[in-house]
Order: sequence, then structure tokens, then C-alpha cells
Amino acid sequence: MDAVISSGLSLQGTLTVPSDKAICHRAVLAAAIAEGETVIHPWPDAEDCQRTLSLVQELGATVTRSGDTLRVLGRGKNGLCAPTRALQCGESGTTLRLAAGLLAGQPFTTTLCAGTALSRRPMRRIVEPLTQMGVVLEGATPSQEITELYPPLVIHGQRPLRAICYHMPVASAQVKSAILFAGLAADGVTTVVEQDETRDHTERMLQAFGVSIQQQGREVSVAPGDLHTPGELVIPGDFSSAAFFLVAAACVPGSQLVLHEVSLNPTRSRLIAILQRMGAHITSHVTADAWEPRGTITVRAAVLRAITLTGEEVPGVIDELPILMVAAACARGRSVFQGLGELRVKETDRIQSMMDGLQRLGVRLRLTAPEMLEIDGGSIQRGIVESAADHRTAMSLAVAGLVAEGEVTVCGAECVAKSLPSFFSLLQHLTSPSTVKTVDNDEGLLLR
Ligand code: S3P
Repeated sequence: MDAVISSGLSLQGTLTVPSDKAICHRAVLAAAIAEGETVIHPWPDAEDCQRTLSLVQELGATVTRSGDTLRVLGRGKNGLCAPTRALQCGESGTTLRLAAGLLAGQPFTTTLCAGTALSRRPMRRIVEPLTQMGVVLEGATPSQEITELYPPLVIHGQRPLRAICYHMPVASAQVKSAILFAGLAADGVTTVVEQDETRDHTERMLQAFGVSIQQQGREVSVAPGDLHTPGELVIPGDFSSAAFFLVAAACVPGSQLVLHEVSLNPTRSRLIAILQRMGAHITSHVTADAWEPRGTITVRAAVLRAITLTGEEVPGVIDELPILMVAAACARGRSVFQGLGELRVKETDRIQSMMDGLQRLGVRLRLTAPEMLEIDGGSIQRGIVESAADHRTAMSLAVAGLVAEGEVTVCGAECVAKSLPSFFSLLQHLTSPSTVKTVDNDEGLLLR
């Protein structure tokens, strides 16, 4: 599918984005190993979340769905069943890495398979700590890359696992979460030490299920124990989905937008302060702060100025970097993004996909070191760009189309379904139906 984006119309109105994908994965995994029934809503249509849901069903959890409300009947920490076949994680890295941690402490063997892109993403980062905990894991090692491991992963789970203290070499919430899930089946307290802060959804979710989590500075510890359902989990809107609309409204002249019920978890919403540093008119306030804070964000268009983003800030905006690059392309002056290495191992190499896309739209940018990108703000030209099968590249380049001097066509735009299938209709809702045309390459025009 191609998406053709026209510029010229501002974003106006209010929006509630679908539920946070990262929180949904954790809610379903925790509910599956909890005692009792957990009601989770609103459940989003993101493809990745369906992967985690199917996975826990194959492990024996009972799931019923009515509209956007899910009921997950957990099997308790010791009640999951050995699956009768390999479990398919599709392109969902969070499903695969978090499930690997959870399955490490189950007394059976599981194979986790992946789709084409996820099969190229590194897994040694979870295999290393889980092996230290006593699990035997097998991954694929293509002959040209003997130092890394890739899916499929075969996990020979066992119980109890060895409690460890692990100093993380990469800033990754997925790795931290895999270790914390494994720690539930350990013979003592498991500790993870981070160099840079990453999202804390797993810590909050396990606490909501009654698990003892201790946090001190950059150290987080989990004690083994049973999980008890909190009853109901109302999931806030996904900040990373909201980010595309926030940046669009900050950049497109005349825009004014209010987002309700969106996650304001401080480890996820660092983009707000960064946009404020760029001169954006953006404010947020928390309206409810139970297990995960949520609230309202208001933004209106402003002239943005360039920014220097340090490597230390990167984990706090890891999924917002592509759209932040678009903000930098609209800003006055030269922006510098440091410490971008982790972007190379996302759904695609996002440094490359964003450089390719923005360069095609006439943006002047360059790598000044393997992990450092400079972007000169200025005008964005019309053009045809590729999504590289990456949802965040596709949505970011579509937003670039809203400020471009002419139409921007994003090829391969169907990949937005991974996290936000309704992205283009939401964009139409905030602008006008004529802003987005999506064209199915086989069937002609779908949306007008
Ligand atoms: C995620 C963590 C991030 C992020 C990914 C989802 C999570 O990955 O990029 O989209 O839900 O824990 P890393 O923690 O590996 O950086």
C-alpha cells in the first residue's frame, strides 16, 4: 500500500490514541501467569499485541474478547502448558524477548520463531543473562555472523533459576524485562543494573500483580513470588503513537491539538521536554496516577529551533527518534543526534531508513560518526520515499509530508499496522479526508 500525503492543512481537534503497545504486552504476559482473571481494556488492534495474546493462549491461558475488552484467565506461575508446536512471534521483538524471559523459568522446552525482519535482530543480549541464570538457549548463528545469535530461539526452561546481579551492557527495556520475568522463577532476588534509564513498565506491571520490586537509582530487583490479578487494568494511550501527532501539530503552521488519556510515564514521555527545548508550545498534565500515569497533552504550532540530543537521552526517546528527526528537519539550525547505535537494530536500520527518506525529500543531513547524525533544518520537498517495512519510518515520513512543499508518497505504508493500524484515518480526522490517500497497489484507491 502507498500513502500519498498532501500538505497545507493544519491539525485541529482532540484525539485519544489506542492503548500503549508496550504496556499491553506486559499486561497479558503477567495475567497469563497470575492467579485469577484480569480484565484488560481498551485492547488495541496493533499486530504486535495480537502476537503476545496468541502466544499466551498457546501456553494455556484462557482469553475471551468482547469488543475492546479482554479477559485473561491466568494459570498461575506453575500452570503454563508445554506448547505442542513452535510459537510464532511474527515481527514483535517485545513478544519474543519478554516471552523468552518468562519461558526460561518454565520446566519445558519452547521454540520461539520470528518473521523475516525479527529473524535478523540480535538475541545474544537476552541469551547472555538468561544463560547466567541457568537456562539453556539455542539461537541461530548464520555463518557470516558467528558472534551474534538470532531467532528462532529454543528455550530449555527450568526451575528454579539462579538469581543473578546483571549489569546491562546495552540500554534496553526488553532485556531488563526478560531478566525480571525470569527472576520470578529464581532461587533468590535478581537485580538488574542499568547505565541509562529505560522504560519501567515491567516494574510497574509486576508491582500491580503484587510482586515485590525494589528500585534504587539505576538498580531494580525482583523477588520470586506468585502473581495475583489486580482485577482490572485500564491501559493508557500509547505515547509513542501520540508522538507522531504531537510533532505534526508542533510543526504544521496553525495547528492546535489536545490528546487525552495518553501515557505520561516519565520514562516514556521525554519527548515533551525535548520538544519544549526546541521551542514547541506543548504542555502536559497528569489526570490519573495509579499504576501508570496518564493525562492530557496540549500542543500548538511554533517555529522550532535545532537541538543537540545526547546519547544519555536516547533511551528515553528510543521509539520517538525517527519523528524527532522530522522535527529537526523542520527546525531552524543544525541539530545533532548522538548515540544512535541502537536504532540500527530496530525493525530496520532506522538511521539508514530515515536518512534515505529525508534525503529524498531534500533534507540536508549527514553521519558525522557511525552513531551521530547532523540534520540541517529547512524546507522539505515533495518526493517518493520507502517505509523500509518499518512502521515508525512510515509514520514519520508521512508527517514530513504534512509540511512538505508538495505531495509525499510513502511506499509500503501498510506496515503501520504493527503498532497503529488507524494512523492514516486519525490523520485524516485531524486534518481533512483529502490530506491522505492510501492506494492499495493491486486494488486501486482505498481511502480518499
Ligand atoms: C520496548 C523497548 C524498546 C523499544 C521497543 C519496545 C519495550 O526496545 O524500542 O519498541 O516494550 O520494552 P529496547 O528496550 O530493546 O530498546
